[in-house]
Amino acid sequence: MRLQGKRVVVTAAASGMGQAGCERFAQEGARIAAVDRDEARLKEVVDGINTAGGNAQGFVADLSDADIAGTVADDAIAWLGGIDVLWSHAGMPAPGDVETLDLDEFRTATDVNLTQSTVIAARAITHMRQQGSGSIIFTASTSGLVGSALSPVYSALKASVIGLAKGLAVRYATDGVRVNALCPGPVATPMLYNDFMKVDARFSQEENEKRVVAGVPLGRAGQPREIADAALWLASDESSFVTGIALPVDGGLTAR
Ligand SMILES: NC(=O)c1ccc[n+]([C@@H]2O[C@H](COP(=O)([O-])OP(=O)(O)OC[C@H]3O[C@@H](n4cnc5c(N)ncnc54)[C@H](O)[C@@H]3O)[C@@H](O)[C@H]2O)c1
Repeated sequence: MRLQGKRVVVTAAASGMGQAGCERFAQEGARIAAVDRDEARLKEVVDGINTAGGNAQGFVADLSDADIAGTVADDAIAWLGGIDVLWSHAGMPAPGDVETLDLDEFRTATDVNLTQSTVIAARAITHMRQQGSGSIIFTASTSGLVGSALSPVYSALKASVIGLAKGLAVRYATDGVRVNALCPGPVATPMLYNDFMKVDARFSQEENEKRVVAGVPLGRAGQPREIADAALWLASDESSFVTGIALPVDGGLTAR
């Protein structure tokens, strides 16, 4: 088992890649503190893991509030009795059009993509430094590596998540804490179909869908499990010499 006995916190755990990560990590022997604002979906995910013989607990929180994010991180770490791995996966789409930018939407997107990630990582680092080990994974996006015409603000926020990962990696390397960013391309989750494919109002839904997948050399969206497997590698000791990277898992999107 690749995560035997590891204590793991996953945010945005009730759907998509976060759910796949919780299930995958649990199969590999981890105990999971699963954080999400969707109480009903979170219960289904946690019950599914526990029924399959795993060990998971749900923590309901709206992470757009930084104080709530800090409190739920403390609660999750207390339940686990420490923390070995944090997959800080929560994020959200940002406004698509800068010419009509709504500053409240901009601030909320910043709170969910960057602020809460920083707050929760800080809680994890305090514990990881004391024990001299730990792995933190931030979900950024290929949109943080290359410009997104659909949402330049989303590009800016995900680039800042990559910067956060690199900065923390360098700062806490000698404490035994590894920090990396995961950069998914389009992945078949509700966020892709409900948000990203609608975000450019100049085009129809059908045109937006074609535009999103057209950029992927493998010619399709990724599956949540494919991203969870990359997160599993970054979480495990198999990546013990890897810190400060921004890993594209994108079907080749950023290769051209
Ligand atoms: N799906 C993609 O194509 C794609 C590509 C690159 C990066 N991402 C990033 O992946 C993450 C989203 O993951 P997904 O695609 O698996 O999405 P998803 O739509 O399957 O799930 C998102 C989950 O996040 C939860 N959530 C949303 N806002 C929250 C908040 N304020 N507090 C607590 N929970 C909240 C939702 O309840 C939901 O369970 C985000 O960081 C996103 O930026 C997604």
